[in-house]
Amino acid sequence: MTTTPLLQIENLQVEFATRGGAVHAVDGVNLTIEPGQTLGLVGESGSGKSVTARAIMRLVPTPPGRYAGGRILFEGKDLLGLSDGEMQSLRGGQISMVFQDPMTFLNPVFTAGEQVAEAIRAHQGASKGEARAKTIELFRTVGIPNAEERFSAYPHELSGGLRQRVMISMALSSRPKLLIADEPTTALDVTIQAQILDLLRHLQDEFGMSILLITHDLGVVAEMCDKVAVMYAGQIVEEASIEPIFDAPAHPYTSGLLEAIPSTSNDGAQFRPIPGAPPDLARLPQGCRFAPRCRYRQAICQTTPPPRVAVSPAHSARCHFAGDFKKNEPEPAIAGRTS
Ligand SMILES: Nc1ncnc2c1ncn2[C@@H]1O[C@H](COP(=O)(O)OP(=O)(O)OP(=O)(O)O)[C@@H](O)[C@H]1O
Ligand SMILES: [Mg+2]
Repeated sequence: MTTTPLLQIENLQVEFATRGGAVHAVDGVNLTIEPGQTLGLVGESGSGKSVTARAIMRLVPTPPGRYAGGRILFEGKDLLGLSDGEMQSLRGGQISMVFQDPMTFLNPVFTAGEQVAEAIRAHQGASKGEARAKTIELFRTVGIPNAEERFSAYPHELSGGLRQRVMISMALSSRPKLLIADEPTTALDVTIQAQILDLLRHLQDEFGMSILLITHDLGVVAEMCDKVAVMYAGQIVEEASIEPIFDAPAHPYTSGLLEAIPSTSNDGAQFRPIPGAPPDLARLPQGCRFAPRCRYRQAICQTTPPPRVAVSPAHSARCHFAGDFKKNEPEPAIAGRTS
């Protein structure tokens, strides 16, 4: 029996018009999130993670951006086909988003509580008094101490961790089915990061929502997610549930990301950053986008874009040698390079 996924992205293409030509920020992305699931989206800076997230919210600025193809099905409905009004009621309603930096999101001239209460009033038609009471209750749920006093605090009067909790409480106020969290903890120190991730996990149990968690940190993915999609130069290069990705990455890029985690475990395997940089998205290489940096590349990798290869039913990678790239002799010129 098949159920409708909560979110299904099919062959999504998002481009930006720039002076250097069209930048293919998202180029044929497929992603699926089931109800209650957490999907981790990882990849280096500039790989298209935030553009993917913004596209789901239909928040890509157009122009310079353009939805150039594909579908974003939310409970089977294509978000790219909705009117602005329909989209607006979904946004901050059934789908909400938490951003990396709460200060760009919170309005400095209103108190934290007023802003959350206003969101509740806008989406749920609550009275002023009800919205205030709900806000204070939400502040307690997300672990804001002295919630009643904090209602009247301005954003700049709160610590980074508290601001992030305010933004999370706003995102949760509508009991969304999908929460998109774009690097929700990278601006915070490690202890607060752990607290916020704990909070998200706990809230997910309580609210039963699905989460799209965007992060650079594979450790966070291992702890929080059911499955992971690895993004490189606008494409998903590997997708699987957590264990296969960490135990047997099928794509050399994922393997490289894992080797780049500073770690003392893993019997002496040293910390080794991936040499080189991602390609210019306006001038992509002809073959595999990762080939210029890949230690295992062969002639075909430089001429032919790799297809998506299923290495098991729920594990796929975009690599000509998916699953057994390590059989290829690593290129010494690339292997030996350190920067
Ligand atoms: N408004 C815009 N105009 C032109 N190019 C854009 C715009 N927004 C994003 N891009 C380009 O799209 C590409 C993907 O950007 P995106 O922000 O999605 O990366 P990211 O994976 O989220 O990176 P990071 O980890 O640094 O947040 C980048 O090359 C970026 O320059
Ligand atoms: Mg980003």
